[in-house]
Amino acid sequence: MIILAIESSCDETAAAILKDGEILSNIVVSQIDIFKTYGGVIPEVAARSHLEAILPVIDKAFTDAEITWNDIDAIAVTHTPGLLGSLLIGTLTARTLAILHDKPLYAVHHLKSHIYSNWIKEPSSTASSQSQKDETFPTFPLLSLVISGGHTQIIYMKEHNSFEIIGTTLDDAIGECFDKVAKILGLPYPGGPSVAKAAEKGDPDRYKFPHPRIEGLNFSFSGLKTAVLRTVQKECGVGIDFPSHDLKNLLNEKQIADFSASFQKTAVDILLEKVAQAKTEHPDAKSIVFAGGVSANSALRNAAKKKFASSSNDNMPNNTVALFFPSHMFSGDNAAMVAMAAYYEIKSGIPPTDPYSLDISPRSAIA
Ligand SMILES: Nc1ncnc2c1ncn2[C@@H]1O[C@H](COP(=O)(O)OP(=O)(O)OP(=O)(O)O)[C@@H](O)[C@H]1O
Ligand SMILES: [Mg+2]
Repeated sequence: MIILAIESSCDETAAAILKDGEILSNIVVSQIDIFKTYGGVIPEVAARSHLEAILPVIDKAFTDAEITWNDIDAIAVTHTPGLLGSLLIGTLTARTLAILHDKPLYAVHHLKSHIYSNWIKEPSSTASSQSQKDETFPTFPLLSLVISGGHTQIIYMKEHNSFEIIGTTLDDAIGECFDKVAKILGLPYPGGPSVAKAAEKGDPDRYKFPHPRIEGLNFSFSGLKTAVLRTVQKECGVGIDFPSHDLKNLLNEKQIADFSASFQKTAVDILLEKVAQAKTEHPDAKSIVFAGGVSANSALRNAAKKKFASSSNDNMPNNTVALFFPSHMFSGDNAAMVAMAAYYEIKSGIPPTDPYSLDISPRSAIA
């Protein structure tokens, strides 16, 4: 089964070709350099960049995979959620190609793709994560922590293509929170990796931020972002009406590193506490699967391994659980994960979509 997949939901134009879940080619053209200047994504600019990049990106995917259209069994594309203009470019391209080449078209939910990044088989020469080296994959039932630029969710999956959202953020997403804190500290876009890098030299215990008291498995991150802002203002000796974009000029390198490390520690603790709670409430879960851009975070990976590794851990009695993280190259947006999600849709007997009527949706829950 050879699948061509296309991803264009935000600011990466990507195409990948996978054969039975194994990568033949994987092309990602990021718009990060364009949006560094603005400090964030501008939807119209993103859509125009997709328009320019999408055909060369698909062309390169075929060249790298050394196959032709005759070899393709199906096309997959992200149709929700994401930026409207960006989604339109990817879906219209995929619809046109499906009609032109008479191939079945699979419309894939972006968060499903992030979760399925944990099933991607890399060519053995590039395999990096433990799961891929051992050729072991998550087993069901599982809990997935989806942590990305637009989402923070805990999803229970009893089997492939079965998604129950058991926790979600009530306000900001965790990636968005990293990005906003980076802006306060004057760190470059994209904020997550910048905060993580600055945190490496910082003291995670210098500043204390409160954990939100949210019932159940839901999250809230807007309070944490405000707590960072207020603490920075206090540290700089200015009032709460002082413009947040000018604070960076008052901070030294050590303060920036300590704020980054302290914020990151709090964010990681909040995420993992909820995952632990989810595991307690769903003791049958055999795997915990991390997904989305923030899952690249090393502090999170290390803390998760420490928290869930030992079956003798007092907080996790009688529970052994296997942890899965996507390989770093698949934690952010890419098309290989879209192909992977489509592969398991096809295996589950989910029918293809109609290329003449496929619509997009900027927001929709995983289903
Ligand atoms: N090492 C890291 N530590 C923390 N955050 C990170 C790291 N690397 C990337 N991020 C964050 O991940 C987010 C991007 O992830 P992703 O590409 O999955 O999000 P998105 O596609 O924009 O949103 P969504 O998937 O919800 O539609 C950004 O907020 C970025 O700052
Ligand atoms: Mg994403």
